[in-house]
Amino acid sequence: AYRAAILRFATDGGPHRSAVYEEDGLLVIGPGANGVQVVHAVGPYRDLVGRFPGIAVEHLPGRILAPGFVDLHLHYPQTDVIGSPAEGLLPWLENYTFPEEKRFAALDHSSQAATFFIAELLRNGVTTALTFATSHPASVNALFGEAQKHKLRLITGKVLQDRHSPDGVRDDTEQSLTDTEALIRQWHGKDRLGYAITPRFAPSCSEAQLRGAGELAARYPDVWIQSHVAENRDEVAWVRQLFPAARSYLSVYDDFGLMRERAVYAHCIHFDDADRALMRDTGTAAAVSPTSNLFLGSGFFDYAGADRAGFRYGLASDVGGGTSFSPFHTMLAAYYVGRASVEQGGQLRPGLSLNPQHLWWQHTAGAAQALGLAGVVGNLQPGCEADFIVLNPQATPLLARRTARANSLDELLFAMIVLGDDRLVEKTVIAAS
Ligand code: GUN
Ligand code: FE
Repeated sequence: AYRAAILRFATDGGPHRSAVYEEDGLLVIGPGANGVQVVHAVGPYRDLVGRFPGIAVEHLPGRILAPGFVDLHLHYPQTDVIGSPAEGLLPWLENYTFPEEKRFAALDHSSQAATFFIAELLRNGVTTALTFATSHPASVNALFGEAQKHKLRLITGKVLQDRHSPDGVRDDTEQSLTDTEALIRQWHGKDRLGYAITPRFAPSCSEAQLRGAGELAARYPDVWIQSHVAENRDEVAWVRQLFPAARSYLSVYDDFGLMRERAVYAHCIHFDDADRALMRDTGTAAAVSPTSNLFLGSGFFDYAGADRAGFRYGLASDVGGGTSFSPFHTMLAAYYVGRASVEQGGQLRPGLSLNPQHLWWQHTAGAAQALGLAGVVGNLQPGCEADFIVLNPQATPLLARRTARANSLDELLFAMIVLGDDRLVEKTVIAAS
């Protein structure tokens, strides 16, 4: 058990996404099913300690325990692409990303990249990730193998891209689907690993490949689906040319059976209300990637529109379009995006001010809900897998000074969101270790 301040989220879900904060809390963990540690009890120290006589308590004064962060979308093979400037998404893919991803045909290169990637996730307090690999099965095997060593909850999949892709990353339609099914059977549900069927995006997939992906998604309903949608205006126009019969870019995925619970689409920027309703009605979730959208100049996720329709969303780094592994940087960028005034029907709508509890929720319990893993990860309620982080608000002089002056939970969380980075994360504890 651990005694410290504890941050968690109300389980009633609802529109409030409100945090529960224990100034002097006790977190009791113990073995759950299949060797994974789970939260047995959590609450005020003075109320709980009597219920666990003789239990060993590690006291962490001045520290805050919080759920490990959930990164809803990123690319492990793009760690070395971070910070590559380009005139928007399509030139960035062509000039930096595809050349880099070619290297992942080799297992030893993939393994080295996977080792660095997982260390970086943990250093930043990320304990669950839904990540792209590359089109090479070796890249998937390397990452799952590394994640299994760390007993990490990780979801990935082989990228499907059988057209409009250069030699070295383009795959073969039939082979890509055979490889996908073999990887599902090999890895999905092993320890804490999950498989995601991963069409890169509609422009890089033939109709036959999308159809095959949709058939696999129907045959394996508890496997995830991940892709990109409506990120960039040139991309949207290209999809309109390639799929002239589709109602919208998003509906291409629906037409091929790729929208359902456990489907997560990155970006979801250039949407109309029919797209938003389709997201909600199919139980599909959006991975909001603000540092990537600002870096590549893609646009701004419409939070008000998403909440009006009521579809699920959570935060994502989208490394290497995104600029940081740090959830603090991502939450701050999400705040900037909320503040941005967006044009709507020819009028400028004033910016929102996203509440810090809502920002934090989007990167923990909200992201877990988007994955269909509410009550499993992303929170510290009884029964949750005990992946958590130890935050040290004394980590830098400015953090120490600013958090000491916080007069409310919102002020405390905001100070950490604005000033925090990997230095704030003193320790990351994985449930199974
Ligand atoms: N669309 C298709 N591939 C990618 C990618 O690798 N990154 C981003 N940001 N968008 C994409
Ligand atoms: Fe991405």
